[in-house]
Amino acid sequence: MSIPSDAIEIMEGRTRLLIPEAHSSKGPGKRLGCVFFNAQMAFNRDVSVMLFRTLRLRGSALDAMAATGARGIRLANECRGEYRMFMNDKDPRAFGYIQANIELNALENCEATNQDLRCHLASKVHDYVDIDPFGTPAPFVQASLQGLKRNGVLAVTATDTAPLAGTHAKKCIRRYMARPLRNVFGHETGLRILIGYLAREAAQLDKGIKPLLCYYADHYFRCFLRVPENAAAADESLSHLGYLCCDQSSHERSWSIDHSPGASGPMWLGPLHDRGVLSDMDAEKGLEERERCLKYLGLWREELETPFFYENNEISSMLKLSPHVLDEVVERLSQVGHASKTHFSPTAFKTDLPLSEVRAAYLDMA
Ligand SMILES: C[S@@+](CC[C@H](N)C(=O)[O-])C[C@H]1O[C@@H](n2cnc3c(N)ncnc32)[C@H](O)[C@@H]1O
Repeated sequence: MSIPSDAIEIMEGRTRLLIPEAHSSKGPGKRLGCVFFNAQMAFNRDVSVMLFRTLRLRGSALDAMAATGARGIRLANECRGEYRMFMNDKDPRAFGYIQANIELNALENCEATNQDLRCHLASKVHDYVDIDPFGTPAPFVQASLQGLKRNGVLAVTATDTAPLAGTHAKKCIRRYMARPLRNVFGHETGLRILIGYLAREAAQLDKGIKPLLCYYADHYFRCFLRVPENAAAADESLSHLGYLCCDQSSHERSWSIDHSPGASGPMWLGPLHDRGVLSDMDAEKGLEERERCLKYLGLWREELETPFFYENNEISSMLKLSPHVLDEVVERLSQVGHASKTHFSPTAFKTDLPLSEVRAAYLDMA
């Protein structure tokens, strides 16, 4: 086996990995070594393992921007199934790492390729395509959708959270053709803008999207989407797009399918998760960050489908109250309507109640 000269060996989950000795351990990650590896993305790869197991894939999967191959190698090693895992990277040094990691784990269901993913997907289609770029996935979305088999699964990571969550509005408009919103729930609007963009790109090909699991964590957004291929599915997906209006001082928000002056969007207003997939997912022993996986699985399963959340501190300060205990707020609101915590923020909640009823509940609890 030819081991890259700057490599060290680690274990992630149940998998042995060769990674560059100089690598990122936090944040969006930098190219410190010759080939990219970010230890903080272990949770992201754990979630891929949990979700991939529920797909029971037959056919072929592509980790299209694999770097060391960390994700594809973990999927191939930790998820059973009758599929072939392709790991691709355009960088020849990454290709060397992928080959070495396949050999290290003695994986027979894997293949390494060394192409621009757009060339690869022009000649080969897959049942699962995963793109994990530096920053925005926008330049790779069309090729990935076209390289996906009928009813395949598309997985997308976006680390350009600042434009999507409203810090660089013009960049968001250029990349995603959508106006973002910079406020306390900017990360939820950012994720919904990304999904809305993927729905619009898919619709151009008469394909629809069905979110299996879409979430925000650390410094990135992550989407797993089923992509059915027919015009009705495309139309159905587009029917979930709309615009958000938010009054920054009263915190009153409303959304509709029509654009109005000052509105943010277009964005996805449908569900972020598929309940069946979530109930199938299991944080089995052997995951790298099992405790965190269990925590997030619980949050995703309980999270209301209602778009947008409220920050406990913000509502309290608007009413000149000291913040209530979040669990008590959720319990109180659940007595009159529906309420849940949200994975977007540990100090926030979702509810289907109008703001007037939320205020009334806060005042009652004071
Ligand atoms: C953020 S890293 C991927 C990290 C990896 N998925 C992991 O879990 O460790 C992005 C990778 O995409 C590769 N890349 C960038 N543009 C590409 C393209 N057009 N085709 C194929 N690979 C590309 C880069 O060489 C880099 O290794």
